[in-house]
Amino acid sequence: MLNRDLDAAWKYHNGTKHSYLSLRANPHFLDWDNKPLLFKIYPTLEVTRLPKDFQQSGIAALSAITSVGAKVKGDSLPTLEDIAQFLFFSAGVTRSRKFPGGETFFRAAACTGALYETELYLVCQDLPGLGAGVYHFGAAEFGLRQLRAGDYRQALVDATAKQAALRKAPLIVIFTGVYWRNAWKYRSRTYRHFGWDNGTILANALAVSTALGYPAKVIEGFADEPVNALLDVDIKKEVAFSMLAVGLSKTAPKKVTETASLGLPVVPYSSQEVDYPAMRQMQAASSLTKEEVKGWSKKVSRHSPALSGKLIDLKPLSEEAIPKDTIEQVIQRRGSARHFAQEPISFAELSTLLDRATRGIPADFLEPAGSRLNEMYLIVNNVESLAPGAYYLRRDKLQLELLKEGDFRKQAGYLGLEQQLPADASVNIFFLADLNRILDVFGNRGYRATQLEAGIIGGKLYIAAYAQRLGATGLTFYDDDVVNFFSPHAKQKSAIFLVACGQPLKA
Ligand SMILES: Cc1cc2nc3c(=O)[nH]c(=O)nc-3n(C[C@H](O)[C@H](O)[C@H](O)COP(=O)(O)O)c2cc1C
Repeated sequence: MLNRDLDAAWKYHNGTKHSYLSLRANPHFLDWDNKPLLFKIYPTLEVTRLPKDFQQSGIAALSAITSVGAKVKGDSLPTLEDIAQFLFFSAGVTRSRKFPGGETFFRAAACTGALYETELYLVCQDLPGLGAGVYHFGAAEFGLRQLRAGDYRQALVDATAKQAALRKAPLIVIFTGVYWRNAWKYRSRTYRHFGWDNGTILANALAVSTALGYPAKVIEGFADEPVNALLDVDIKKEVAFSMLAVGLSKTAPKKVTETASLGLPVVPYSSQEVDYPAMRQMQAASSLTKEEVKGWSKKVSRHSPALSGKLIDLKPLSEEAIPKDTIEQVIQRRGSARHFAQEPISFAELSTLLDRATRGIPADFLEPAGSRLNEMYLIVNNVESLAPGAYYLRRDKLQLELLKEGDFRKQAGYLGLEQQLPADASVNIFFLADLNRILDVFGNRGYRATQLEAGIIGGKLYIAAYAQRLGATGLTFYDDDVVNFFSPHAKQKSAIFLVACGQPLKA
């Protein structure tokens, strides 16, 4: 029952906090000669290239991100072309940039340090253009490598609480995290990044599924051992973090008798890898057995802090008035802002960002509808018709509650790890969560879910910003200073995530 030993999540969380002192007492220098390879490659397997002649879905990005799942009747089986489109706009290489001594390949979703530690695998029945099997998505070649032939979906159904969405899904995508790929730069904090980066990819994946007309649901409650065994990942290096059930099928999964080890070689990421045991301990402590999965998903009660300040109604654009750039166009042009001009965004733009990014996520840890784990707090530097200051987002009512008025640019820069981006942004959106309540309900697994929810909303904020021709970037932060800044309102909460939005400045 490690999942109920809540000290483990606190030990990991507290042990990976950033502070002014920790950064100075424990500096980290990047070993460029040992930088990991950013792709997982199975050298002995043939790669089947995916088609790249994508169609525009015609669905506006700002609409695609609000859906909690396309409604379909009867079979809804993704075709190979749709799977290719889904993979490209979730985790494909969308841009590259040359620099002296190399080239960086940027992907569809923002990922910390452009290190792309999230790998994608498909588990499917026979689909139009793709035989039943277990596949690894090779982002480098934009192709699939078949790890197992045959329908293995039942192994995943057995690993979960038999969620209807998963039981009836023709396609299940498994997202893993590769420790070293990200820990090369971020050391033990990488386990948080698993949730963040898997989350931004899921934001895209959910939006593209919706745009293509497939229902999709995020699954975080699964027994870890059988899922990792199906993929045959070396769990000292890589672990399953979440799943996405896509589509609807009348073809029942077949019984799976065994998932034998595959023993497939993988091209090494670096000449040497450094092990950070804190992450493997957090992974073990938040792992579930099949027995534990059954009672896993429950509702987290919410503590609503008493009203302390003036309330301001948000005024988002209506469905008719939103910019109509499609989800594909917006994902293709997204790229984290590297500089912000100290210029305002409009109140309607801010309102639209917050409204569209928070309309719900189809996920097994967010039931019933309207449940949530993270709360959002803002530092407004420069938004038209809104006084600069600190605010709390009342999500149910789409209102901002003024916590304190003032010019907090300097503090925002400091809280965002002394970077210029949060100081120059028009608004900084912080995510804080009441981990005590969450862990009490979900055990340590709630820690994964909290990071993942933040990453998904963060990914939607990115899309909502770029759809409105604004810029955005995820940021890291000084944990306790963030909580103190928003206290007493945020007392008892923990800092989870940060996104800055504003007017991008071309360098
Ligand atoms: C959760 C998260 C945190 C990030 N933190 C920082 C940060 O602290 N500073 C920074 O300059 N960029 C940060 N980034 C931006 C990444 O470096 C960027 O996403 C990555 O280089 C990939 O580039 P792209 O987003 O332009 O595709 C963050 C991104 C995410 C998703």
